[in-house]
Amino acid sequence: MTQTLTGGPGLTQERNLVTEVPGPRSRERLARKKAHVADGVGTALPVFVEAAGGGVLRDVDGNTLIDLGSGIAVTTVGNSAEAVVRRVREQLDSFTHTCFMVTPYDAYVDVCEALAEVTPGDHAKKSALFNSGSEAVENAVKIARVATGRDAVVVFDHAYHGRTNLTMAMTAKVMPYKHGFGPFAGEVYRAPMSYPLRDGLSGEQAAARAVEVMEKQVGADNLACVVIEPVQGEGGFVVPAPGFLPALARWCREHGVVLVADEVQSGFCRTGDWFACDHEGVVPDLVTTAKGIAGGLPLAAVTGRAELMDAVHTGGLGGTYGGNPLACAAALGALEEMRTHDLVGRAREVGAILHERLGALAAVHPVVAEVRGRGAMVAVELCVPGTTEPDAARTAAVAAACHAAGVVVLTCGTYGNVIRVLPPLSTTDALLHEGLDVLAEAFAATA
Ligand SMILES: Cc1ncc(COP(=O)(O)O)c(C=O)c1O
Repeated sequence: MTQTLTGGPGLTQERNLVTEVPGPRSRERLARKKAHVADGVGTALPVFVEAAGGGVLRDVDGNTLIDLGSGIAVTTVGNSAEAVVRRVREQLDSFTHTCFMVTPYDAYVDVCEALAEVTPGDHAKKSALFNSGSEAVENAVKIARVATGRDAVVVFDHAYHGRTNLTMAMTAKVMPYKHGFGPFAGEVYRAPMSYPLRDGLSGEQAAARAVEVMEKQVGADNLACVVIEPVQGEGGFVVPAPGFLPALARWCREHGVVLVADEVQSGFCRTGDWFACDHEGVVPDLVTTAKGIAGGLPLAAVTGRAELMDAVHTGGLGGTYGGNPLACAAALGALEEMRTHDLVGRAREVGAILHERLGALAAVHPVVAEVRGRGAMVAVELCVPGTTEPDAARTAAVAAACHAAGVVVLTCGTYGNVIRVLPPLSTTDALLHEGLDVLAEAFAATA
């Protein structure tokens, strides 16, 4: 399989540290950030980037770091992937904006057509385009409410759906996402998620537990939609037990409830299939996408059954920038990369390496309670050995050691005790192994 190694001239695909991390130039810029950027906007690893591509980031001090985070699941096709750059350049030479709601253009329709092809199910589908994952989730709820004439929304423990008012209500974790930002939107109810490490339930049992909450505390007749991440992202890369998603889908179908799969983090080849729902053959009514869809440009979508999508009155969906032509060109480029380089297959290869290497880590470090994930979306959960008591301190220490050694890893999880690995699929096996060597050294150094 060809690996795409673009990303600007002179960007060597190897880790190379020439200063400490962050180096002096990054530290200088950090002081400027402190002066001009609101403190509420945090930074996981304060190195300022000047070039990125393939599987690396180069910072302003000349350090080249291995990227195992993809800018939080965005640069699946790589950073500055050839087809993305080429198509965006071409579009830039033509025009930057008209507003699709004023005068339309082909790239928007091309993206919607492509979304109908790649998303789960072979029914008639339509899409609407937005700017961010949160906006897509909000609009999926709007569509489900109009289509059903019902108000209530069910989400799950550990869910992350965004930072707008409605999506904050749908997001589970209070700190840092919700703290002090209420009051939140109403008619949002939370059901228990299938979390095999912590509940020990089969998929069917966990679904029955969730259904009981929906039937007793919400009522199917009041419920517009169930919104679920088929593999949770910020909540800790939680993969529900087999059978959980199909059972929920069945229940939704039987009760006329719209099933919304939030594939903002898990979509577009990341999990070793086009969408995480595909692993169990689940066909949601609506799918929300963003992140990996456009190789780094801001684009999001709601795609779903044509009759649901068309339930909304003309003018009811939209926004000034939604489906901006540059972002659409980027999405068409990202899709070209995914197809040309078989990134579904590449995600599976990367996943095999991750599971083997992280499994070996778990065998020697009892703090690793579980290795889980699908495709190139894999995580380790750290707990006090022999228990499920989260070890957030060790997690933070391991991440900090990786950062200092020039490897970008991200943490996540309700309890802050999960290290997630989601490299760009344009990375090389050699970089991946080196990144995982550094992770192993970080575990050893913090033991
Ligand atoms: C599953 C999921 N939904 C929604 C969002 C929100 O997307 P955005 O940050 O683009 O608003 C995220 C972001 O991490 C996500 O992972």
